[in-house]
Amino acid sequence: MDWSSQPEPFRRYHGAECVALDRELAAEDLPFDSLYGAPGVAPAALGLRALADFLRHSLAISAWKELRGSRWALRVNPSSGNLHPTECYVLGGPELFGEARVTHYNAEQHILEIRARIPARLWDGLAIPPGAFLLVISSVYWREAWKYGERAFRYCQHDAGHALAALRFSAALLGWRLRWLGEWADEVAASLAGLDQEGFAEREAPEFAAVVSAGPVIGLAPPDEEVLMQWRQMKWLGAPNRLSERYVAWPFIDEVDAATRREAPVLPTALPVPRHLHRETIGARAAVLQRRSAVAFDGRTSLTALAFQQALERTLPCAAPPWDALAVPALLHLAVFVHRVDGLERGLYMLVRAPHAIERLQRAMRAEFEWRRCTTRDDLPLYLLWRGDFRRSAAAISCEQDIAGDSAFSLGMIAEYEGPLRAVGPDLYRRLFWEAGMIGQVLYLEAEAAGVRATGIGCYFDDSMHELLGLHGRELQSLYHFTVGGPVEGRRLRTMMPYGVAAARDAK
Ligand SMILES: Cc1cc2nc3c(=O)[nH]c(=O)nc-3n(C[C@H](O)[C@H](O)[C@H](O)COP(=O)(O)O)c2cc1C
Repeated sequence: MDWSSQPEPFRRYHGAECVALDRELAAEDLPFDSLYGAPGVAPAALGLRALADFLRHSLAISAWKELRGSRWALRVNPSSGNLHPTECYVLGGPELFGEARVTHYNAEQHILEIRARIPARLWDGLAIPPGAFLLVISSVYWREAWKYGERAFRYCQHDAGHALAALRFSAALLGWRLRWLGEWADEVAASLAGLDQEGFAEREAPEFAAVVSAGPVIGLAPPDEEVLMQWRQMKWLGAPNRLSERYVAWPFIDEVDAATRREAPVLPTALPVPRHLHRETIGARAAVLQRRSAVAFDGRTSLTALAFQQALERTLPCAAPPWDALAVPALLHLAVFVHRVDGLERGLYMLVRAPHAIERLQRAMRAEFEWRRCTTRDDLPLYLLWRGDFRRSAAAISCEQDIAGDSAFSLGMIAEYEGPLRAVGPDLYRRLFWEAGMIGQVLYLEAEAAGVRATGIGCYFDDSMHELLGLHGRELQSLYHFTVGGPVEGRRLRTMMPYGVAAARDAK
């Protein structure tokens, strides 16, 4: 890791005309359950004011931190190492921008940079329904590779999953819908956002396109070749900034990138009907804006059984935000280390996120596991596998990070791996990490609602986790770890609000 070549965390397009976005936060908050699509949020009219709000509650800077003269930004969406490889493009028509445009969201200044003015007939060729616009999400692999080398690819995918959930939650607060366009090839997303244009010193790779809509989201046919060809030939405005002086190539990342590109369209799956849970401890916008990772946990705070179960229940896929954004069958299950939850024995538990998976999990894991269904909540598919104190093991598995043992609970996300990858194709590899990131985003917000804090754990020893569970081969694979508990706050840190405005409701 070479500090002098640390990449810029912000993409800018030099010379591009900018669109200012409103910086004031809405004075009113919404009930926490609005994040999950609870009724009562009327769809906001499409326009710049609502778009500003949408981006402010998903990908914007949430605070500046300062310690001994260094200053860094934190964002609404978390990121491995706070390196933020994720970029966002907003493509809208006259209803949104007065004319059709490709814009880049510049989170540093909370503005949009105009990358292209789209001729009306070309925009019409996309057949975007009234009240809707498009997003393209991309990753600058180099931002993570600079620090983490080959692991960067995985972390970028985790971050993309966190961003997808953050965007879906933010859309829900405006009464909007948001859906991944799995029918669209990745190269379509790249072309629409101008990622295949000249001038990028460091590659920006497409992750996904999504449609956001104030009305019901309907299927969108991908643009035809003629439209795409003309799109690529548009006049592209602004020059992408160079992110570091020196760049190290990681051919392995390019190989995985190429090998995991989607070849066939993925259509949305029908998801179970959601159950609305009531949580009134905190407002929805407050939770989103104050979300932070804990850097340490106090080793004391315990969670109520209700808060623990609600947090787990929110990770179950259903036809509500954020799960309706990806709408694919759940393939990740949670191996939970319960350290401090009132009324629950310490031990290793398993949350089976898709009913079909239980037999597969039971077959693959240690024969001596109990698989005792926890009766505290009938509709929660949570099983006790092994009683005991796992604080030490959890920390050891998480690259000796105490955050996994000093919390109330921590967990490993166990993916059904080789079978689905063979059946669906290598592109599923990316989506498994997106699913992991989405689960993580739910847990971050649930932690805020429960008055505690969470932290993603990308650094863990999968072999040790597999050994603990008795896994052999590649049928199941641990893909991401997470921890939730009472945080220890760093006192010497100074926190400043972003964008130089006094917020109507201060974020912590
Ligand atoms: C995919 C991912 C992996 C992470 N891995 C770790 C980790 O192993 N250890 C840790 O202390 N924090 C980890 N974090 C937390 C990040 O360091 C944190 O999100 C980042 O510093 C930004 O801070 P914030 O979450 O408070 O906005 C991870 C976060 C993500 C999204």
